Amino acid sequence: MLIEARELYRFHHLGGEEVKALRGVDFSLAPGEFVALVGPSGSGKSTLLDCLAGLDDPDGGMVTVEGRPISRQPEAVRRKIRRGMGLMRQKGNLLPHLTVTENVLEAQSVVGRGDLSEVLQLLEEMGIAHRAGACPPALSGGERARAGLAVALAARPRILLLDEPTGEVDAATEAAIVNLLRARCAAGVGLVAATHNPALGKAASRTVGLAEGKVLHA
Ligand SMILES: Nc1ncnc2c1ncn2[C@@H]1O[C@H](COP(=O)(O)OP(=O)(O)OP(=O)(O)O)[C@@H](O)[C@H]1O
Ligand SMILES: [Mg+2]
Repeated sequence: MLIEARELYRFHHLGGEEVKALRGVDFSLAPGEFVALVGPSGSGKSTLLDCLAGLDDPDGGMVTVEGRPISRQPEAVRRKIRRGMGLMRQKGNLLPHLTVTENVLEAQSVVGRGDLSEVLQLLEEMGIAHRAGACPPALSGGERARAGLAVALAARPRILLLDEPTGEVDAATEAAIVNLLRARCAAGVGLVAATHNPALGKAASRTVGLAEGKVLHA
């Protein structure tokens, strides 16, 4: 398994109030799987992705990535494990003072690579090659989403954890992104995409539904 999560609990505390974002979630991801993570706003999708990526720690339970525990590990250990992952967070994964090209090159450098022609090809595939020299604040919402996706794919990760990868894109771009993600999965990448987009749901090999922090079982 690429990812195994057992009995995840995550409670957020806000002004004396407790939000139970995850309430006993089990999840696993195999190579080649395309999982659509769906559920109403606030159901815990982003919280789950953050726990799977080791960017957040569950209050209960444990996540293992390719057999290695990532929850409650020192940051150096998590960072090493994350080299095999491409992440796209809802809040964005772009450095605002770098151009789109520089952002993708930076993401590649994490795994010791720096291939400008591959970066430009990736931007071409995303349909944002014409914005390669722009910085994120100057991009439209859809362009930003595609640049974020290019960053997530840059290091050729074995695992992709994407939060709303088709947010704010038009139908043609959406189809291009779906095809590109399916091709990665066909090549063995495991993908989890949190989404409200039915097209991504249709493209997925499996759908996991969350409601109020729990996995729905059909
Ligand atoms: N840092 C935080 N502090 C307090 N509460 C939080 C925090 N992060 C998330 N929550 C709460 O936890 C719950 C789950 O949030 P989460 O972001 O995981 O939902 P989501 O399914 O991704 O929603 P959306 O579809 O709107 O992105 C929500 O009630 C949210 O308000
Ligand atoms: Mg979310």
